[in-house]
Amino acid sequence: MSAVRKKLIEVSIPLEAINAASAREKSIRHGHPSTLHLWWARRPLAACRAVLFAQLVDDPSSWPDRFDHDDEKIEAERKRLHKVIERLVPWEASNDEHILNEARWEIARSVAWGRGEEPPPRDDGPAILDYLQTKAPPVYDPFSGGGSIPLEAQRLGLRAYGSDLNPVAVLIGKALVEIPPKFAGQPPVNPKARAEAANGQLRDWKGAQGLAEDVRYYGQWMRDEAEKRIGHLYPKATLPDGSQATVIAWLWARTVRSPDPAAKGAMVPLVSSFMLSTKEGRKTWVEPIVDPAAMDGWRFEVRTGILSKADEERLKKEQKQRAAILPVF
Ligand SMILES: C[S@@+](CC[C@H](N)C(=O)[O-])C[C@H]1O[C@@H](n2cnc3c(N)ncnc32)[C@H](O)[C@@H]1O
Repeated sequence: MSAVRKKLIEVSIPLEAINAASAREKSIRHGHPSTLHLWWARRPLAACRAVLFAQLVDDPSSWPDRFDHDDEKIEAERKRLHKVIERLVPWEASNDEHILNEARWEIARSVAWGRGEEPPPRDDGPAILDYLQTKAPPVYDPFSGGGSIPLEAQRLGLRAYGSDLNPVAVLIGKALVEIPPKFAGQPPVNPKARAEAANGQLRDWKGAQGLAEDVRYYGQWMRDEAEKRIGHLYPKATLPDGSQATVIAWLWARTVRSPDPAAKGAMVPLVSSFMLSTKEGRKTWVEPIVDPAAMDGWRFEVRTGILSKADEERLKKEQKQRAAILPVF
């Protein structure tokens, strides 16, 4: 054994497979942590998973005795480890215990060899996890942001820690890594699930499934409650054909009293531009309309159409000026 063992990441990793899985992750919505809460510069889980694995698993050249000092055997072993990574990085592998166990064993083997021990048997998942929890180095990401690195370290069976300057990131990390294991294997506690259990509808709640069921139940409850209490502030929009549509985005603007004496102290919105979309062919803007019958003496209309660059610039400027002088009537 050489004194300093080279890790796989120092020699080679299957970049193409890692890149492809990382790129594909961007289009995955259902069940991806990015849908829990937005975090900027969140790293792809596939890349974090691969990097953690390759940092903990030794390159076979570190163990020449175990490969008969034969470069071909060492290269074949390296290729085998690349295949493990290729199976490990796709999104679908995230909950595949067979693939995860295979990767955990490889890490356990490197840790064990480094300690002059042998790893637990390949097919003994609980023993492998126990070995990693007690013998493998813990992973700590001091700038953990959206929690990708601690999450993937935990998935690989390692002790995982994270911290961040931003309390929102800490909360995301807690929700991802710290809270779910506390409820592992427990049934949900919401009234609907309790009633079903009392009626004999029992089911096996694996991992965080019970917690997830409660999050869904109480999330829906909060949504319904919010709709009851403040839904009237978000009315449906009336389309040009008279039909009603759900509004998908609301733009809020601060309002101030117009400094124009002619406006007689009317409130006007402070916005830098009334353009909603500047996409070619689909330009959309808000037109403020002076209307004595409307509250504050004006209202908005959303307009779409084709605008030349010059018209758009003129419109932006006009609208800026109009915002200040709007309620002159
Ligand atoms: C690039 S992001 C990390 C992204 C993370 N790896 C992920 O996948 O979501 C960098 C993080 O470092 C945090 N940060 C910046 N300065 C810090 C400091 N001095 N101490 C702790 N965290 C800090 C930021 O709040 C941000 O969340």
